[in-house]
Amino acid sequence: MSDTYIQSLFAERIGGKNYGKSTAIYKFEKIKRAKRAALAANPGAEIIDMGVGEPDEIAFPEVVAELHQEALKPENRGYADNGDAMLKQAAGRYLDRVCGVKGINPETEVLHSIGSKAALSILPAAFVNPGDYVLMTTPGYPVFGTHAKYYGGLVHNLPLAEANNFLPDLDSIPADVLRRAKVLVINYPNNPTGASATPDFYANVVEFAQRNGIIVISDAAYAALVFEGKPLSFLATGGAKDVGVELHSCSKSFNMTGWRVGFVAGNELIVKAYGDVKDNTDSGQFLAIQHAAAYCFDHPEITEKIAAKYSRRMSALVDTLKGAGLNARKPKGSFFLYVNAPRAAVKKDGLRIAFKTAEEVSQWLITDRLISTVPWDDAGAYLRFSVTFLAKGEADEKRVLDEVGRRLAEVQFEF
Ligand SMILES: Cc1ncc(COP(=O)(O)O)c(C=O)c1O
Repeated sequence: MSDTYIQSLFAERIGGKNYGKSTAIYKFEKIKRAKRAALAANPGAEIIDMGVGEPDEIAFPEVVAELHQEALKPENRGYADNGDAMLKQAAGRYLDRVCGVKGINPETEVLHSIGSKAALSILPAAFVNPGDYVLMTTPGYPVFGTHAKYYGGLVHNLPLAEANNFLPDLDSIPADVLRRAKVLVINYPNNPTGASATPDFYANVVEFAQRNGIIVISDAAYAALVFEGKPLSFLATGGAKDVGVELHSCSKSFNMTGWRVGFVAGNELIVKAYGDVKDNTDSGQFLAIQHAAAYCFDHPEITEKIAAKYSRRMSALVDTLKGAGLNARKPKGSFFLYVNAPRAAVKKDGLRIAFKTAEEVSQWLITDRLISTVPWDDAGAYLRFSVTFLAKGEADEKRVLDEVGRRLAEVQFEF
């Protein structure tokens, strides 16, 4: 593409006049390229994709039927703007029944989102002035921080270390950062570590937020995908509603990533500001989709079935990876299994392949073993396996995992 005056007009936040000229290749593009190369080198072979970050199945038939019914109603046809009462009320019931959050006022303390990603991109506009800090956990989902930086904000990363159960160390934040910090973003069950929060941790977060005058955004995209007990909500913590909001989504909990619907709930002022910026950003999700989402929130047994499937797959994947010498432990929720990346793989003929990063391991796993994973090198070297791999039924699941075991059995890992 030749340069035109347009090239000189890009905002600095996306690279200014150098926008689009970087030759750096990002992680997910590298994975895609390695998969393409592996397929070309092994025509007809099965690449086992353990890197997928979304459900492998479609929404439940009763939810699709609900969408159909609602889409036929003329009154649902128009701009939804900030939505009607149906999703708000269902969200209030869901928080109460499923998450144990009492006393949410659906009218003033809940608002729909076009998925949590959209909410995470809207919320920074309400709070971030140039020079303000946001506290983000790393590795993690970066959208809030990206938009905070668009507004001239700064991101302080809090590493998620295994030694601290992949919870951030809030005491590690330098005083000058803390003084200028406005927002803390947390996400449990966590992508990518699969870690869960504890009631004590959430109580500490509320205390920390109150003491330092900080807003908490709890990204609960995987909240209901738990393998035992009830989902743990930040909002169920005493005082949480005074300091923050929680983001829930149908994407992962109800196999509805493409539908784009969820909600923001909690502190009334934060919800109101979110709504004001949202109103100037989008015109709301289609009411038929909102109403189908409301149906979901009244049918949490759907999520329980999905979680049971992931739990079964997770146990089997843990066994498979442990059998291959990887340090796998079953998480309490999410669909992610996060394991230490090996430092080397030794083949039966003695050939030793050394790795400096998790990214190198992941590239080798794709090209040599035809197994795709997602590497993370932000706080230690780890590989993320997802149990949303493609398999049709339990027999096929077993076949896929046996094949993973067979492919990995041909090497010995060193740590
Ligand atoms: C931690 C986290 N938050 C938010 C999202 C986005 O979810 P949604 O589909 O609701 O936008 C994802 C999606 O992968 C995620 O992993």
